[in-house]
Amino acid sequence: MCGIVGYIGTQHNPKEVLLEGLKKLEYRGYDSAGIAWIENNRTHIVKCKGKISELEKHVATINIQGTIALGHTRWATHGKPSTINAHPHQVGDVTVVHNGIVENFSALKTELEAKGYQFKSETDTEVIACLIKNELETASSFENAVLCAVKQMNGSYAIAVMSERKPGTLVAVKKASPLVLGLGKKECFLASDIPALLKFTNQVVYLEDYELASITENRVSYYDKNGTAISKQVHKITWTAQMAEKGGFEHFMLKEIFEQPQAIIHTLSGKLSPNQDAVELPIHNDFFKNTTNIYLVACGTAWHASLVGKYLIEKIARRRVEVDLASEFRYRHPILSKNDVVIVTSQSGETADSLAALQLAKEKGAKTLAICNVKESSIARLADEVLYTEAGPEIGVASTKAFTTQLLIFNLLALYLENTPQKEKILNLTRLPFFMEQVLHQAEEIKKIATKHYKKIAALYMGRDILYPIALEGALKLKEISYIHAHGYPAGEMKHGPIALVDSNLPVIALIPDDDFFDKMMSNIEEVRAREGIVIAFSQRPIPMAHHNIILPLTPWHLNPFLFALPMQLLAYYMARCKGTDIDQPKNLAKSVTVE
Ligand code: F6R
Repeated sequence: MCGIVGYIGTQHNPKEVLLEGLKKLEYRGYDSAGIAWIENNRTHIVKCKGKISELEKHVATINIQGTIALGHTRWATHGKPSTINAHPHQVGDVTVVHNGIVENFSALKTELEAKGYQFKSETDTEVIACLIKNELETASSFENAVLCAVKQMNGSYAIAVMSERKPGTLVAVKKASPLVLGLGKKECFLASDIPALLKFTNQVVYLEDYELASITENRVSYYDKNGTAISKQVHKITWTAQMAEKGGFEHFMLKEIFEQPQAIIHTLSGKLSPNQDAVELPIHNDFFKNTTNIYLVACGTAWHASLVGKYLIEKIARRRVEVDLASEFRYRHPILSKNDVVIVTSQSGETADSLAALQLAKEKGAKTLAICNVKESSIARLADEVLYTEAGPEIGVASTKAFTTQLLIFNLLALYLENTPQKEKILNLTRLPFFMEQVLHQAEEIKKIATKHYKKIAALYMGRDILYPIALEGALKLKEISYIHAHGYPAGEMKHGPIALVDSNLPVIALIPDDDFFDKMMSNIEEVRAREGIVIAFSQRPIPMAHHNIILPLTPWHLNPFLFALPMQLLAYYMARCKGTDIDQPKNLAKSVTVE
């Protein structure tokens, strides 16, 4: 969703900082972009529909002389993608960029119109600019005007504001949308996410909800929602700028698929006892004491990881687990008590529904644990305890390495909860990167299958038991990046409806581990073949009746989700590549879904 970049200072060229930063935020998904700066006390704005490369053309001959500038990529919520709706929005001397949704914007707009203000765009953001401009007429300071304005707004926002009245100050404030400051020498940066800042600084400050930062070239002052000065901790980022680069791969997604063995090694590191016979997690010893129910709550791919988590925790630790989509959980009045544990899983740590579900769980007195990839993200900070996946920055919109590292955390949690010696399962986990490498070596074979079938209009994925969520994940990956309609099903459900779809044009992707369900899966494949469906089998022993068969290493059952997930990612990737879609930034999708 929308990306914000801000710069104040003389050490760098503002245009370069903004364009560089906005490119690093492209992964969030957007449909228009713009920049604004103040030069000789006058605001200049250049914005357009389309990609940043389009914006670059518009600003190619402009040499920005100012020292204060804002940039933005917009993911349309109120009003279609267009130049007029693109940010920044200026009302009088006030210019604003915004990420989030102002839910009461229509009522606010009517009030402002009654005061004589006129609007050019259809956006809620122009209303924010107008509110601030209106408050500035009477407020004691620029900062107070912004605080008064945001107090009137419902919904979510990360806002950066500049005014010709105070051309040496950038004001930033947030609620439920991320905003991070980067500190340099005689300069300061502002962004929706770390990769936009990494080239310039690794010293960052995370703004909390309702906090306001007043930023000048030499100093940042922080205030709470009442305008009282507060102090903030500076964090050092250990990711390097290179970690957020493609490193020779054609797409971030492909790079991230191949990074998975390393991501597993990093996530496992520090979570085992010295002689590797017990799992040691950085959470309070009593955290799971007296726990009645465990709820796993998440969205999208993280929800699929949570479904796998249920199988792992119930089978290994014999604890009852419920899994919920965050967007359902937050509204279904869940019955929670202080003896329940709610585990919210999120790569970004900013997903609006997951964050709201976590807030609800806390309000109801449940204990909360976050599984997050982004350090100090909103979900990570709000939860009582946090377990980080160490996947590194995930830029491709389709989640890959975050997913498999989430699977690892659920494996570790299940073993942690089991409470008996687990040397063998732990040994299996330490060997996992080696097995994953073996699967990745089959990329070329998977590419050949994609080359044959990328023109198909639909696909069906089926799996059983712990691989049923992997069938869901495979179908989601294919939909997201290749736009081929795909559906994941528990194989046992085929007869109850989806089998009606099977004909000679339908690829059926079957996940067939060499386990107790092997014969049942074979029967399901027979049924598909009998209806002339195209069987693409991923299995651990040869399946002669399949049209295509990729054989995966034979591993203990709790490793199977990892090994079957990798070819699902590769198949989706190569299908999309053959179709020529925008793999890293698929249409209509955003990496960090910060609105409901
Ligand atoms: C799928 C995908 C999305 C996310 C979902 C949750 O490839 O990326 O389905 O998994 O939007 O995002 P996080 O994990 O950031 O909460």
